[in-house]
Amino acid sequence: MINNRLRTIVWALASLLLVSAFVACTPEHPQSTFDSHGPVAEAQMGLFNLLTWIVSVVFVLVTGGLLYTVFKFRARPGAPPPQDIHGNTKLEIAWTVIPVILLAAVAVPTVQNQFYIAAPPEGEDKLVVNVVAHQWWWEFDYPDLGLSTANEFHVPVGTNIEFNMTSEDVLHSFWVPKLAGKMDIIPGKNTTMWFKADTTDADPSTPEKDSFYGQCAEFCGVAHSWMRFRVHVDEQDEFDAWVEHEKSNAKDPETDLEKEGYQLFLTKGCVACHAIQGRPDAVALRGPNLTHFGNRSTLAAGIKENNNENLKVWLKNPDDLKGGTIMANEAAVYINPDLALSNSDLDALVAYLRGLK
Ligand code: CUA
Repeated sequence: MINNRLRTIVWALASLLLVSAFVACTPEHPQSTFDSHGPVAEAQMGLFNLLTWIVSVVFVLVTGGLLYTVFKFRARPGAPPPQDIHGNTKLEIAWTVIPVILLAAVAVPTVQNQFYIAAPPEGEDKLVVNVVAHQWWWEFDYPDLGLSTANEFHVPVGTNIEFNMTSEDVLHSFWVPKLAGKMDIIPGKNTTMWFKADTTDADPSTPEKDSFYGQCAEFCGVAHSWMRFRVHVDEQDEFDAWVEHEKSNAKDPETDLEKEGYQLFLTKGCVACHAIQGRPDAVALRGPNLTHFGNRSTLAAGIKENNNENLKVWLKNPDDLKGGTIMANEAAVYINPDLALSNSDLDALVAYLRGLK
């Protein structure tokens, strides 16, 4: 009785697990690898499908043979004890040679893929983006365009984008699931990859244009899972306009509140880490460049929508949104109670930063 109930529970749990495993394959999720866009993601998807078919056929044949043998030759009442045998040369050759052939067949497309994804095809136009990973945010530099941004970057649709990547501190991994597989980012070393987005909209089922989600995919410390980023894919003219604007200096503070916020930015120590282009006092690059921060759709490395409320929560105590940040642990306003930001300070800083469009 108990045995039967236990068996039912085990079957129910196993089925639930199987169903949830397959539900995870939905292409709708913004970080699903099953919705590939562009040649790199498609090549990797093709390899995944090929491997899945091969292992499925092997699984069915091996398991089928095993089950057939177990049932066909099971012990029967009154049957004589089975005969002892040792070795079967034909069988042993067969189950050595077949896996060798299979592994060789899998190795050829795998190695081809490795070379294909390492760099964009020679002779085709490309845009170079240098990626510098930091605990726990992203720096994106365009060496040929002379601009630098953080946590969100733009690329033109249908253009090969070549990434050269390194890290300021520990191991990270660059991953935009719909555009390309992961690539490790290693301190003191340069790793490369590329992708080409084939659409400007990551999710056509919504009316607005959606950006592609990116995520650090290598454990890099306490805020690893909050080390996200966004890729905005633009038509060429939109992209050119973005570049033009991004290269321009930051907007001057206009309203009284914005002016007060700018003064706080200088006096409360924000300038010790954050650069704002066109402001000679703000040139440090320990934290994200904030020149056009107001135009970014997210804050704190892709984890929250960039609006006044979220920015105020973030500035009040970064730990409330993202535990462990260097800002919360080292910035004077968070460790020295005499310098703590008042409610009106927070409003002024929010006005200034959100005005950086
Ligand atoms: Cu950076 Cu995980």
